[in-house]
Amino acid sequence: MKLFDVYPLFDITPVKAGGCYVWDDAGTRYLDLYGGHAVISVGHSHPVYISKISEQLQQIGFYSNSVKIPQQQELANKLGQLSGFDAYQLFLCNSGAEANENALKLASFATGRKKVISFKKGFHGRTSAVVSVTDNPKIIAPLNETDNAVILPLNDIKTVENNLKKRDVAAVIVEGIQGIGGIHVPDPDFLEQLSQLCKQYGSLLVLDEIQSGYGRSGKFFAFQHTKIQPDMITMAKGMGNGFPIGGVLINPDLKPWHGMLGTTFGGNYLACAAGIAVLDIMEQEKLVANAKKTGNFLLEKLSGLSGVKEVRGQGLMIGIEFEEAVKPIRQKLLFEEKIFTGVSGAHIIRLLPPLSLTMDQATYFIEKFEKVLSELRVHSNEID
Ligand SMILES: Cc1ncc(COP(=O)(O)O)c(C=O)c1O
Repeated sequence: MKLFDVYPLFDITPVKAGGCYVWDDAGTRYLDLYGGHAVISVGHSHPVYISKISEQLQQIGFYSNSVKIPQQQELANKLGQLSGFDAYQLFLCNSGAEANENALKLASFATGRKKVISFKKGFHGRTSAVVSVTDNPKIIAPLNETDNAVILPLNDIKTVENNLKKRDVAAVIVEGIQGIGGIHVPDPDFLEQLSQLCKQYGSLLVLDEIQSGYGRSGKFFAFQHTKIQPDMITMAKGMGNGFPIGGVLINPDLKPWHGMLGTTFGGNYLACAAGIAVLDIMEQEKLVANAKKTGNFLLEKLSGLSGVKEVRGQGLMIGIEFEEAVKPIRQKLLFEEKIFTGVSGAHIIRLLPPLSLTMDQATYFIEKFEKVLSELRVHSNEID
């Protein structure tokens, strides 16, 4: 049977991984500055992570959500403690899109309203309600087109207020840091005013921390660089370090009833074991602080490089924008220097490494990045 390729493929077959490295089937080692798209939080194949999931599998792997699963409470307790949102309720599901879908549904139930405000360059997933509030017409099928989605410019609080004033908006959804859109950090003032205006006009504020959360920005959630308390916070990616798990943190003012949100696989034993291991490792190895330290180092070094148009981000969520297309830079990094990076559109290199990236690895990346830039510059001068 022919496979459907989700994305165009690199001709690389990883077969082994550890920490911030992956190895291909020819034994070549790659430094992973992409983290499998911001998913690898505590490092590949961490021994604590492996043993926690393996031990759980020896006991019980699955039962439905109709019985008590103490691992869910253990995960909720640890998450509450590490994030500072202990008073919130945790709904567990399987992916980022599913977390956002449930958050928007809950907001609509709770307010009795239909509209959702989201922002230009935003991405919230590929399923029905969340794809309709994602700013990419190419992935919105006719079935998903709806007047309920209102996509506005980020940081334009006046326009947002004009829409909220109509009092028909169930939710405003915004990424803690826009990822796929090119690493844009919302203005802290904008987020603070947005939070206040949502309260004033009876709309709920949903912080999509699926990419920017779980320590990546140097705080547990990126919005914690401000003082806001969102109505809901959505998570996935780094939460399971590769094991599919997502979640919605729900403000105690909201009272979802039984049956409003449901799932077969969400909160299963193995996903909880993965989630608990991630939080244990994050705490023991102080990975949020590490993301801040190595991230600040990278941001400073990258900003000083010639030929770079702009460097944006917080912690280990970094965008490096160039005037020229970045494809040759990424290809050279990958195939010659054996370093994985991500991109965002044609002009931005995106760094989303494991939060365990060491200063030595960060320094190594900067050296190789400079080398690649200078080689490409010499080459393009020769062509000129
Ligand atoms: C900010 C954001 N929200 C939602 C999603 C969707 O997550 P998933 O692919 O797990 O459905 C993503 C995925 O890249 C994302 O970056």
